[in-house]
Amino acid sequence: MRALTPKVFGILSAPTGVVATICTIGVVVALTASPQAQERKELRAASTFVGIQDRSARSRALFSEAAKVIANPRCVNCHPAGDHPLQGDDQHIHQPPVYRGEAGTGVPGLQCAACHSDRNFNLREEASYQSIPGNPRWGLAPIEMAWEGKSVGQICEQLKDTKRNGGRDLALLQEHMAKDDIVAHGWDPGIGRDPVPGTQEVFGELIRAWIDTGAACPSP
Ligand code: HEC
Ligand code: HEC
Repeated sequence: MRALTPKVFGILSAPTGVVATICTIGVVVALTASPQAQERKELRAASTFVGIQDRSARSRALFSEAAKVIANPRCVNCHPAGDHPLQGDDQHIHQPPVYRGEAGTGVPGLQCAACHSDRNFNLREEASYQSIPGNPRWGLAPIEMAWEGKSVGQICEQLKDTKRNGGRDLALLQEHMAKDDIVAHGWDPGIGRDPVPGTQEVFGELIRAWIDTGAACPSP
C-alpha cells in the first residue's frame, strides 16, 4: 500500500498538503471496492403512457418512471439524509470522510472543491476508481432536499413542497430537472460510474407530462 503513495500524489488535481494526504487515504480505502461498468438503462418516453385512461393513474405512472432517475445513486449520493455524501452504487459513506458544512460544499480546510474540480477528472494511473466526478458547483443538496431512505411517494410529495424544494413552483421544478447542469451530471458521471437511465430530455418530458396530468404522487 505504501508504494502507492507517490503515484497517487501524481494523479490528483489539487495535491496540496493535508488534502493530498486525505485523498491518498481515500484511494487506499476505496481499493477494496470493485470497479463498476458503465451501461445506460432504458427510460420510457412520456408518450408510452398515453394509454392509461385515468389521469391520476397516468400521472403516478409517469412519476414512477421518472423516479428511475431520481432514486438512482447518481442523484441520491448528493441528496443524503446525513452529514456525509455517499459514493458508488452501494451508496457507502464517502471515503475519505467529508462533511457537508453550512453550504453543502464542505467545511473550512476540507472543501469539496479540493478534490472535485469543475469537470470530471480522469485518472491517468490505476486506482480503484477511474475518475473523480466534477462540476463548478459540486456540493450536497441542502438537508431539507434529502432523498436517502425515502420512498418514491415521499420524494414526490417533498419535490412539490416549496418549503423543501428551494421555493420552486412546478414550472421551475420541471426546468431544474430538464436543464440544470448538476442534474445533467447524472448522465455524464465520469468513467467507471453507471449513468442514470435514458436522457435528460426524456426525463424532462416525463416530469412535464407528470405535471400536466396533475402531478399526482404514488402512495408513500
Ligand atoms: C453534486 C451533487 C448533486 C448531484 C449529483 C445531484 N444533485 Fe440535485 N441538488 C444538488 C444541490 C446542491 C441542490 C440545491 C441547489 C438548488 O436548489 O438549486 C440540488 C437540488 C435539486 C433539486 C431541486 C430541489 C428539490 O430537491 O426539489 C432537484 C429537483 C434535484 N436536485 C434533482 C437532482 C437529480 C434528478 C439528480 C440526478 C440526475 C441530482 N439532483 C443530482 C446537488 C446534487
Ligand atoms: C479528499 C478528496 C475528496 C473530497 C474533499 C471530497 N471528495 Fe467526493 N469523491 C472523491 C473521490 C476520489 C471520489 C470518487 C470515488 C469513487 O468513485 O469511488 C468521490 C466521489 C464522490 C461522490 C460519488 C459520486 C457517485 O455518483 O457515486 C459524491 C456524491 C461526492 N464525492 C461528493 C462530495 C462532496 C459533496 C464533497 C464535499 C462535502 C466531497 N465529495 C469531497 C474525493 C473527495
